[in-house]
Amino acid sequence: MNNYNIAVVPGDGIGNEIVPEGIKVLEVVAQKHGFTISTTHFDWGAGYYIKNGEFLPKDGLDTLKQFDAIYFGSVGLPEVDDTLPAKDYTFKVRTHFDQYVNYRPVRTYPGVQRPLRSEKHIDFVIIRENTEGEFVQVGDQYLPDSENGMGVDTSIFTRKGIERIAHYAFKLARTRRKKVTHITKSNTLINSLTYWDRVIKEIAQQYPDIEHDQMYIDNSTANFVLKPEIFDVVLTTNLFGDILSDLGGAVMGSLGLGGSGNINPEKEFPSMFEPIHGSAPDIAGKNIANPYGQIWSGALLLEHLGETKAANNIMQAIDTSTQQGILTVDLGGNASTSDVADAVIKNL
Ligand code: NAI
Ligand code: MG
Repeated sequence: MNNYNIAVVPGDGIGNEIVPEGIKVLEVVAQKHGFTISTTHFDWGAGYYIKNGEFLPKDGLDTLKQFDAIYFGSVGLPEVDDTLPAKDYTFKVRTHFDQYVNYRPVRTYPGVQRPLRSEKHIDFVIIRENTEGEFVQVGDQYLPDSENGMGVDTSIFTRKGIERIAHYAFKLARTRRKKVTHITKSNTLINSLTYWDRVIKEIAQQYPDIEHDQMYIDNSTANFVLKPEIFDVVLTTNLFGDILSDLGGAVMGSLGLGGSGNINPEKEFPSMFEPIHGSAPDIAGKNIANPYGQIWSGALLLEHLGETKAANNIMQAIDTSTQQGILTVDLGGNASTSDVADAVIKNL
């Protein structure tokens, strides 16, 4: 019987409420599909930083490296400097483990009312470049307290970085509706993003069976709202993907519905699965957070490990639960966090 070792990092805020519910679902689905998961819990994040002065211990990455996958909630607390969570935890794991694909699917949930008038079925995946671009954190502040103060952040787009994310997107499109829309702003970012466009177009030529088009980020935000059904694989830079995926969550009906994977496709390192949102301190500790995105992230984790049947089973149980009206406050319902997980488990 296959056993998978999963590192569990709930992090802060609602992470501590939705991750345990997600684990319950994983344990039940594993039992049903004839494999086991062993979970090891790590209390890292902003809360850990308050006590220990760091988000994870010095040997934290070496520890995580031993696992088959990481099941993550989110990090950040109002009382901790908010430049630290990404730098000292999320980006650290993503870059050191070469998780260059951020896989963020968007789709309609049955029984969930969406903010859009269109009732058309939506099913697309945002493929966000996850290790470079605008988020490399290369830059500085010069004399910030003076009247000549300035701040600079540099974006870095490498051929290697663009090629590998483009290959991933085009290969993924082959398993879907065979269309890649790449998001850009090369009309104004005339160095970095013209290069992004150029390398993606070169890679596109190797996939003549895939329809490929290019869309500016400003136009794509409008199209996410006006005609989201036109998208299949949306290939974006790190910053644009960050913004578009919150919009994707909103289009589904709530940020709490979005699951995601930070994936190292070569499987040289563990991949990390987390909901698209943050630690939501405004609703933490009330057992009202929506755990569907966290549970979906568990399905993506199982899919990555090759347990496709179990992953599909989770998705079907999620759909049955939303269809039955098991909805949290953000979706206009009154189910608690644990009510949702209980319903999903019952529907597995
Ligand atoms: P957020 O995503 O935590 O919350 C935005 C809004 O969405 C809030 O009103 C929140 O209540 C709501 N929301 C989010 N998830 C929800 C869920 N599952 N169910 C119901 N409602 C939900 O973003 P915000 O407020 O900008 O950031 C809060 C903290 O999270 C910050 O410290 C930020 O740095 C951190 N953060 C961490 C991320 C990560 O660990 N990957 C990603 C994004 C933000
Ligand atoms: Mg984000």
